[in-house]
Amino acid sequence: MNLKKQVGFQAAELVRDGQVIGLGTGSTTHYFIERLGEKIKEEEMEILGVPTSYQSLFLARDSGITVTTLDEHAVDLAVDGADEVDPQLNLIKGGGAAHTLEKIVDSSAEKFIVVVDDSKMVDKLGAFPVPVEVIPPAYRVVTEKLDYIGGKPWLRMAEKKDGPVITDNGNFVVDIQFPKISKPEVLEMELNTIPGVVENGIFTGIVDEVMVGTPEGLKILK
Ligand code: 5RP
Repeated sequence: MNLKKQVGFQAAELVRDGQVIGLGTGSTTHYFIERLGEKIKEEEMEILGVPTSYQSLFLARDSGITVTTLDEHAVDLAVDGADEVDPQLNLIKGGGAAHTLEKIVDSSAEKFIVVVDDSKMVDKLGAFPVPVEVIPPAYRVVTEKLDYIGGKPWLRMAEKKDGPVITDNGNFVVDIQFPKISKPEVLEMELNTIPGVVENGIFTGIVDEVMVGTPEGLKILK
């Protein structure tokens, strides 16, 4: 079994009957959601899912998980993937352009667990570019400001569609390559103060636990 599948399946075992679960986006949480769907049938559990993207919404429905919204229910446990995790449990997310709703759902949860394979663990964030969701009319001015704060920004282009990626919220994604990020909590706030930026993919201070799939077995970081 590949490591993403292993850790996604193991996270599904943490879900308890009656809980409201934040459903992350990506290939690792894909396994989590599929297994959760099987588990609630096997054990006749009643859970509700709060999706973080159209991907997780459609997959939850296909897996037999009843979906709800943050308006209607508070999240007990959110399970989400990441593109990078540092030793302080700061993250870069947004490889799938879903980081805005992911951050809203994950940060609202009573408990937030990250599921990754060991390739995502880094000493310092920054090898992976930081995704920034930008309102389209603000694209030029935001990019100029991003240049100014020391990153190298580019517009994320779509595959199988001409032109840029359009997020689930109808916006652009600008990816920025920084040299190694020494103060992620400062950069996270700084990026979000630029008018036109909706949200960026640095997540600091919200993770309770990281489940890491390794060839030697599961590692838990807290
Ligand atoms: C989507 C995300 C994903 O959680 C992140 O890209 C990890 O994806 P995967 O599990 O496919 O490696 O942040 O916006």
